[in-house]
Amino acid sequence: MFPMIHPYFSMTILRWFEAHGRVLPWRQTHDPYAIWLSEIILQQTRIEQGRPYWERFMQRWPSVEKLAAASEDDVLREWQGLGYYSRARNLHKAARQIVELGRFPDTFETIKRLKGVGDYTAAAVGSIAFDLPVAVVDGNVYRVLARHFGISTPINSTEGKKEFAALAQALLPPDKASAYNQGMMDFGAMQCTPAADCAGCPLQESCVAYRENRVGELPVKLRTVKVSERRLVYVYIRCAGFTAIRRRTAGDIWQGLWEPANVSAFPELELLLGKARLVRKDVKHVLTHRIIYADFYLLETDERPLLPSDYIWIREEEMDSYGIPRLIQLFLESL
Ligand code: ADE
Repeated sequence: MFPMIHPYFSMTILRWFEAHGRVLPWRQTHDPYAIWLSEIILQQTRIEQGRPYWERFMQRWPSVEKLAAASEDDVLREWQGLGYYSRARNLHKAARQIVELGRFPDTFETIKRLKGVGDYTAAAVGSIAFDLPVAVVDGNVYRVLARHFGISTPINSTEGKKEFAALAQALLPPDKASAYNQGMMDFGAMQCTPAADCAGCPLQESCVAYRENRVGELPVKLRTVKVSERRLVYVYIRCAGFTAIRRRTAGDIWQGLWEPANVSAFPELELLLGKARLVRKDVKHVLTHRIIYADFYLLETDERPLLPSDYIWIREEEMDSYGIPRLIQLFLESL
């Protein structure tokens, strides 16, 4: 996909990293245990917040054997305040895995077999601790690559993940994987930030997004639509040719449309259900961000029940002149 390497890009990242890369305690060592520990801590934690934890862990458990010999409770207590406690449990389990292996795994595949280690962490530990030529792809890397090479493939699409991983790998100088990967992460965190600080950027001249004024548009991320489920219970009241409806208010679905007695909105209407007949159950209705399941009851009565003040009584045949949601319309037609 990217047969050509871009020595200018990679060399610039390496030079920038030498001059501006962050000085961090886990960068002063080749100990894979210390590096792995830092990567687990930094998975969901900012460097400034994670650093004192890394220091306390290293002080208390300076080797993977010591960590493996600790109790899970002690590890969890030391982790307190970092959140995502499965990281601590996996860290402890992985320490025991490593001790059982007899040494720290030193290939991408074997590092990835450790509990709590995925592609990203395996690439980071492999390259930083063992100089394995595997490119790291994290949010920072996506941003830098998308902007510099003007790529608008969504970073969270299958196609995008493949494309960016291939590009990152093609750009990696195989003998400088550690500095290049950490350089990319620091460059994304410090120079090519989400807000973008293009002034003084050493890659400005070759940056496609800068040239085309698309820095703010890249990287592209597909909106993953969270579909929420919603249950509605309606009672269609039939009383001497009249029925009760109310207009839906702002700040919700179907704003301004009309609906029958809505038990989900007025729990006090549940009393009506006792005398009503269930006509339709779990009618499924799909909106853009919602799936609605509605139950419809029919209450035939000679006496108008007392309803909240926003309900009005109308002749049943007048219903057509009110705007009603399609879901309710379909139910009425089926009656
Ligand atoms: N975030 C997570 N791991 C990192 C690393 N090795 N360098 C910079 N930022 C990081």
